[in-house]
Amino acid sequence: MSSAAEIFRDGQWLHLLDGSNQTVGYGVYQAEGVVAIRWLGESLPDTSALQRRLRKALGRREKLAAETEAVRLVNGESDGLPGVVLDRYGPVGVVQTYSSAVDDLGRYLGCLARRWLDLKTLLWKPPRRRAGRGQPDRVLFGSPVAKVRFREGPLQLWADLGAGQKSGTFLDLRGLRREMLSRDLTGRRVLNLFCYTGSLGLACQRAGAALVVNVDSSAAALEFARQHHGGQVQSWVRQDLLAGPWSEVPPGPYDLILADPPPMTGRSDQLERVLAGYRKLYRRCREVLAPGGELVACCCTSRVRVESLRSLLDAVLVPLRFKGRLAPESDHRPGFPEADYLKILRYG
Ligand SMILES: C[S@@+](CC[C@H](N)C(=O)[O-])C[C@H]1O[C@@H](n2cnc3c(N)ncnc32)[C@H](O)[C@@H]1O
Repeated sequence: MSSAAEIFRDGQWLHLLDGSNQTVGYGVYQAEGVVAIRWLGESLPDTSALQRRLRKALGRREKLAAETEAVRLVNGESDGLPGVVLDRYGPVGVVQTYSSAVDDLGRYLGCLARRWLDLKTLLWKPPRRRAGRGQPDRVLFGSPVAKVRFREGPLQLWADLGAGQKSGTFLDLRGLRREMLSRDLTGRRVLNLFCYTGSLGLACQRAGAALVVNVDSSAAALEFARQHHGGQVQSWVRQDLLAGPWSEVPPGPYDLILADPPPMTGRSDQLERVLAGYRKLYRRCREVLAPGGELVACCCTSRVRVESLRSLLDAVLVPLRFKGRLAPESDHRPGFPEADYLKILRYG
């Protein structure tokens, strides 16, 4: 019997039928990866339908423009535009495609949005599947831009568009930055674990923190952070936080710890290993947290369910108690349960 990969081409749009030959909907096929068919909808979307979906997605974000110049304009399946993410940093658009099957769709939507919004530059980050097989980033319009400055509330932030992670910044953490900015952190000592380019640390500094220790394993991220998000109270530490002792991390104690580890898995069969890693991480956090201190635990994979994370943290962080979960940002609104990947949980 032939496999699906022998019958279909990557990127082929499929008419999906049930066992009684009734139309279920339409999808786009990809041989590699965990998602074989990305959902296009119950009816076949033509260009006008795609344009309508894009307009709707842009319309939903209009209010955010008052707060920030950096917005996720298209959030993949949650906006009915599968596998395509489009972020805006002021005059620069960055389109990302999460499967080569939707490369054409991503470029089409990116170019359309660029024209409608009069963006000066459009970059495309193709899927990075395995080392050596991903295509390099491409400039689809305008001149190459390696980094861009943008306003977010009272913060002036920089996104590393060239070598950075995601589209350049973790836009989904905007709510946590806003939360930190709303606090009075005067005199507080903050440990910002998995800091990437240090934008959360900068928000804490602005809220009055006396000390912000930013830790990450990536030398490039730390260097970018130091250059663009530095300040008198900030320090930068390179450390693998998931293996071996935290030999480089000053022992504290800290009044506030922000921990935002990488997903560590996209596969459900690795869940136990990931949870064991979290247990170890949060035990360490507990050791360096000052009495009466607060811990914010982020988890950015939908493979770890919020209930599992809650029960792990409830047990490891005793006597700290769960204080609440931050809602997703409006431009990252999950359109279906599996898209609700980001958990930001407060313990104090
Ligand atoms: C989800 S991102 C953090 C985003 C960050 N909180 C922010 O405000 O932009 C995860 C970060 O963990 C870092 N990282 C990955 N593995 C690590 C490890 N073993 N030890 C320390 N940092 C690690 C990555 O370099 C990345 O910057």
